[in-house]
Amino acid sequence: MRVLIVGSGGREHAIAWKLCQSPHRPELFLAPGNDGMAALGTLVPLAVEDGPGLVAFARRERIDLVVIGPEAALAAGVSDLLRAAGVAVFGPTQAAAQLETSKRFAKAFMQRHSIPTARYAAFTDFGAACEHLRVVDYPVVIKAAGLAAGKGVVLPDTLAEGLDALQAMMVKRQFGAAGEEVIIEERLQGEECSLLAFCDGKTLAVMPSAQDHKRLLDDDRGPNTGGMGAYAPAPVLSADQLEEVRRTILQPVVDGLAAEGMPYVGALYAGLMLTADGPKVLEFNARFGDPETQVILPLLESDLLDVLLACTRSELDRVDVRWAERAAVCVVLASAGYPDSSQTGFPIRGLDAPVAQGMVFHAGTRLDDGRLINAGGRVLGVTAWDSDLRVAID
Ligand code: AMP
Ligand code: GLY
Repeated sequence: MRVLIVGSGGREHAIAWKLCQSPHRPELFLAPGNDGMAALGTLVPLAVEDGPGLVAFARRERIDLVVIGPEAALAAGVSDLLRAAGVAVFGPTQAAAQLETSKRFAKAFMQRHSIPTARYAAFTDFGAACEHLRVVDYPVVIKAAGLAAGKGVVLPDTLAEGLDALQAMMVKRQFGAAGEEVIIEERLQGEECSLLAFCDGKTLAVMPSAQDHKRLLDDDRGPNTGGMGAYAPAPVLSADQLEEVRRTILQPVVDGLAAEGMPYVGALYAGLMLTADGPKVLEFNARFGDPETQVILPLLESDLLDVLLACTRSELDRVDVRWAERAAVCVVLASAGYPDSSQTGFPIRGLDAPVAQGMVFHAGTRLDDGRLINAGGRVLGVTAWDSDLRVAID
């Protein structure tokens, strides 16, 4: 088995690490990967959006399976190109990935299929959006409709703040084309958590629930970031609620997309708010989460390669997807200045210390003259798992 993993962060390192435990002993290729994960496979210098390059590589190297990590590759249609070339791909089509890449598509889809989510209105006209904000009689959230690297969401406390946010997105184009259209939606109250599932186009297998941690610094003292850590499972989601999310959200998404001619093959990520009226969708991601993957995959007892291949063959119902009764936690180490500007080039020491039930996943590292240095803001995901969360954290 020859497997190509597209992406270069901690999530892709975790996928590669888990695939290395497969009894099929797959040979791994990482496009582009990073130096910190190079021991697990061959680094391939191709950009994640380079569809033609990835297709040519997959053909030449007789790749049996491609696993797509980041949304940028899905948005660029890389999975479609690979499938058209006859390559098995774990990752949805560009059309199905609109669940993540277009918030307008996601909201309208949920409305069509009665999937619980916040009430909303979508606008491309700045004046109409401002007018809506003046008359709406509930607290709102304003979102750029396109991809904005997790930054295009504003929770205004006053009308003035809301109008400023609309101005920034729609007039000043703070997020470029992603903010040409905005969604103004009802602000929900409750605890947040994420539930992901493996999907094969018709069947799904849920993963353990997870929570990620977006604020920098201890005790939530810093600004929002791309994710400073995660843990799984998330005790805020009870077994009954998990079943409710599967039944009222995840399965209807898979069924609805199949019915609309866009069968979903890949990891489906539902970001949820557990409201007094039950779980509701905040957002979908059309891929594994980062850093959620770093805490979810260490809990998987089944062979990840079997699960991913079954998804690409519409045979997920034939695989027993088993999870260990334990907990995992990941803390991201970031470089000084993150998230505004990150300093790079610092040497990294201490990685050779043995860890019994843990793993250090590399997000932004590079070899420089034989020594490992940081090459990005998020550098390492220090991960541990044990019988329960407290022990894992210790
Ligand atoms: P999103 O990228 O859509 O998940 O939004 C990012 C964050 O904004 C979420 O993790 C929530 O903390 C918050 N958020 C988004 N939508 C809502 C909503 N309708 N009500 C309350 N908070 C929200
Ligand atoms: N941790 C959230 C995400 O992967 O989008």
